[in-house]
Parts: sequence; structure tokens; C-alpha cells
Amino acid sequence: MPTSVTRLFPLPGARHPLEGLYLQHQLHTKGQPNRPFVYSNFITTLDGRIAIGASGRTTHTIPATTGNPRDWRLYQELAGQADLLITSGRFYRQSIIGEAQDILPLDSQPVFADIHDWRMDQGLQAQPDIAILSGSLDIPLTALEPYRERRILVITGEAADQTKLKKLQDHGIEVIHAGTGTQVDGSIMIPKLAARGYRSIYAIAGPAVFHTLLQARVVDRLYLTITQQLLGGDVFDTLTKGALLAPVLGMQLVKLYHDPHAPANAGQLFGIFEPCA
Ligand SMILES: NC(=O)c1ccc[n+]([C@@H]2O[C@H](COP(=O)([O-])OP(=O)(O)OC[C@H]3O[C@@H](n4cnc5c(N)ncnc54)[C@H](OP(=O)(O)O)[C@@H]3O)[C@@H](O)[C@H]2O)c1
Repeated sequence: MPTSVTRLFPLPGARHPLEGLYLQHQLHTKGQPNRPFVYSNFITTLDGRIAIGASGRTTHTIPATTGNPRDWRLYQELAGQADLLITSGRFYRQSIIGEAQDILPLDSQPVFADIHDWRMDQGLQAQPDIAILSGSLDIPLTALEPYRERRILVITGEAADQTKLKKLQDHGIEVIHAGTGTQVDGSIMIPKLAARGYRSIYAIAGPAVFHTLLQARVVDRLYLTITQQLLGGDVFDTLTKGALLAPVLGMQLVKLYHDPHAPANAGQLFGIFEPCA
């Protein structure tokens, strides 16, 4: 695999090895005791598709022509610096019908062994814990089995179904209430996670969860891979979905890299953005 990418911003440009590009960001050291560092990551096409509907599937999927091992490496490096992953109820429902993209990180493939070693060196636990945002609490327990060695938190609203909630608790899953209805309010959730000691929180769910975090103004950094592809299609997700953000959230460019090596016949940009002060 060709190793380097080109930094386009800040200037002057420079070449950097792909491996280690994000691991060096030390995200696990950026949180404060009462304010974890919250970051997210998406891969999108130039026309803004993060997932599409496809025939024979009941749920949306990341387009096969868009996902690629070089972006996946960086996704794993971001997970390597997290002490908590934020996921959605959807992921576990997709898992039991065989439609989830992959298992949750960190991936145990030998190619990612250096990230596991790095975590150990940094004093982080072997795997990040898992938070599941869900209003419906339709979370199949069998889909949680591969992750039972980690702490699993389900985060929901005060009005969530009590029977489903008790079933989760009876299986040793901690439930956190963070919102008055069935939905989670990010501004209530993040302090509750901080109180449990989390310092680096990596949101790997989709548009509704990302919107929940944006609306609460708790996102510290967005890692955005833009594949230089135009996909079209009528059924797709983009990276945020929900009420218009008011005021609009201005993001400043922190870094931009060009990777001509993937996806095939296209290339991709790795952008890093932070909210403007
Ligand atoms: N290209 C990429 O980088 C990328 C990244 C992530 C995801 N994706 C794709 O995007 C698609 C959509 O992903 P997704 O369904 O995980 O996205 P999502 O829209 O963030 O999550 C949907 C589910 O999360 C729960 N949820 C979200 N916000 C909530 C809130 N405030 N309170 C309570 N529950 C909340 C709900 O679960 P309940 O229904 O259980 O209530 C909801 O059904 C998938 O196909 C995925 O593969 C792509």
C-alpha cells in the first residue's frame, strides 16, 4: 500500500505517512475532568452521500465504492484514542440481520496491532466502552454479546419504555436518562458521561446522533473524509439530519490532506474541522 498523503493545509504542504496520521493527535489527553473531548468521523462523497439504500437490504449501507482500507485505517486510529464510543440502537438491529458494516472498533486484525499496543502504552484500557443512544430501546441483546467484556451504557430519555429498560438492566446494562421525552439531549448526556470519568468520546453513529451532538454544541472536532466521487441516487443519508441548527455552526479548517491512492479512479481528502470560537 502506498504510504504517504500530502498535507494541503496548513501551508507549506508536506508529505506524511498515512499510518499514524491521526494517532498522533493524542485525543485522549484533550478532555477536561468536567468536559470530555467529543469527536466524530464520516466518509462522504462529493455529493454528500454517507450511506445509500440498496436492493435486497432493509437498511442503508456505506457505498461499497466509497469505503476503502486507507480511510478505515484512520477510523481505527480515531477509535484507538477513545475511551467511549457513541453508537446507535440501529447498529445492533443491523448486526443481527447481518447488515452492519463491521464489528465495532478496535478491530482485532493483525494490521491494527500497533494501535492496540499504542493504547496499552498510553494507559488506556484494551477496548473503548460503548454507549448506545436509543429512544425505542429496541436493542437486541444477542447483538451485544460480542462486546460483553466492555462496559455498555444505554442512553435514553426519561419517558423510555420501562419494560424494555428493565430487561436491559436485568442483563447488567447500565441505563442513563438524559432527556425529558424518549430522545436524548446531548447537553444533558455529556456531563453525565464526564461524571463517569470519560475524557475522549468518539461518535461513530450516523446523522441523527451527530445532529444530537451538534444541537448541544458539544462537538469539538469533525474528521471528514471526502471521496472525490459523485454517486447520485435518490435514497441516501447525509452526515446530519434534524432541525435546522440556529445559529448555523461555523467550522474552521484545521488540517487538510490529499490521498490520491483510494478509492480507485478518484482519490480522497482528509479534512479536520473544529467549531469556530
Ligand atoms: N459514511 C459514514 O461515515 C457513516 C458513519 C456513520 C453511519 N453511517 C451510515 O449511516 C446510516 C445511518 O446510521 P444510523 O442509523 O446509526 O444513524 P443515526 O441516524 O445517527 O441513528 C439512528 C438511531 O439512533 C438513535 N438515536 C439517534 N439520535 C437519538 C437521540 N437524540 N435520542 C435517542 N436515540 C437517538 C435512534 O435509535 P432507536 O431507533 O433505537 O431509538 C435512531 O434510530 C447507516 O447506514 C450507517 O451505516 C455512515
